[in-house]
Amino acid sequence: MSDSELIAAARRARRHARATFSRFKVGAALETSGGVIVTGCNIENATYGLTLCAERVAMFKAISEGHKRFTRIAIVADTAAPTPPCGACRQILWEFGGDLEVILANLRRSAGRYQLADLFPLPFDARLL
Ligand code: THU
Repeated sequence: MSDSELIAAARRARRHARATFSRFKVGAALETSGGVIVTGCNIENATYGLTLCAERVAMFKAISEGHKRFTRIAIVADTAAPTPPCGACRQILWEFGGDLEVILANLRRSAGRYQLADLFPLPFDARLL
């Protein structure tokens, strides 16, 4: 699957975002090592603090469906500068996905490519427990 196909899947997922309060819609598309694409969008609710980001929705969906290994995640928002994953999502993506390739895009173009290990140096994870 090409980067642009993965980005297109994230863009489609973004349409389902429930961003009633922030109006900031995000879509994510996570690729498993078997080539399956699992998507997510952000979901907000009236208490605000229970908000789930698109990246965590995608990862939790994937884990709950039995996927164990992952290669890439594309994240799409309607911003001029790329929208990178928040700190909480970096933790979850790292713990369940390892050193993923993170592809950032807006609605018009791809805007960056990173390794998660570079975005999340010195992680706390199960190796320390
Ligand atoms: N959000 C995401 O879904 N992913 C990100 O990478 C950044 C932030 C969501 C959370 C909230 O619903 C809205 O964007 C504004 O923070």
